[in-house]
Amino acid sequence: MTMFITFEGPEGAGKSTNIAYLAKSLEKAGYSVLVTREPGGTVLSEKIRELLINPDFKGMAVDTELLLVFAARAEHLNQVILPALKRGQVVLCDRFTDATYAYQGGGRGIDETKIALLENLVQGSLRPDLVFLFDLDADIGLSRVKNSRQGLDRFEQESLDFFEAVRAAYWHRAKQDMKRFRIVNAGQTLEEVQLQLDNYLIEILGYLNA
Ligand SMILES: Nc1ncnc2c1ncn2[C@@H]1O[C@H](COP(=O)(O)OP(=O)(O)OP(=O)(O)O)[C@@H](O)[C@H]1O
Ligand SMILES: [Mg+2]
Repeated sequence: MTMFITFEGPEGAGKSTNIAYLAKSLEKAGYSVLVTREPGGTVLSEKIRELLINPDFKGMAVDTELLLVFAARAEHLNQVILPALKRGQVVLCDRFTDATYAYQGGGRGIDETKIALLENLVQGSLRPDLVFLFDLDADIGLSRVKNSRQGLDRFEQESLDFFEAVRAAYWHRAKQDMKRFRIVNAGQTLEEVQLQLDNYLIEILGYLNA
């Protein structure tokens, strides 16, 4: 058994911090883990990421943004994610298609049927086995990001309204599919968040051992 697990939520929610934490726990339990991220995860897809987050392209057409996201994903999926799953590795991915529904759907207003079309085209039937949604007020996440790095990218420069629409779209996705989604209250201390993840680790190990 292997698993494809994704980490979702706004900027500064703690996705990267806790992917590393869960990866370490899984490795300690004897599993081979691949940690990767979207948009990105291959040399080509990281180039596409640079285009997506570059503030010079502030006025990018929303369909261009959507297609770039899925172009990066097609490359990442075929070159990295699918081979890793085939080798039996547990794949932990920092953002995936639920982020497209949240940012390009909720945030940019693209119809979800259009996103679903591309999802089916690029992924076939592949969907994450488990999705951690790090739920957090957008302003808290953004202030964490502002404290920890320099300069804001094209998404981080968006308005609070944009991030509220992103959060609502994430919740909409989660409510449609509570079997796959696990909500993490990312507003807690890091210790509390990781206690929550320790409980989910038990669930993940149960699945992997089944
Ligand atoms: N529960 C927490 N409480 C307070 N600070 C936190 C918490 N979790 C993470 N942080 C801090 O917030 C900052 C952002 O965390 P991290 O980079 O893991 O978030 P992220 O979700 O990956 O953000 P991004 O989407 O921008 O990549 C880091 O400085 C991290 O140490
Ligand atoms: Mg991160």
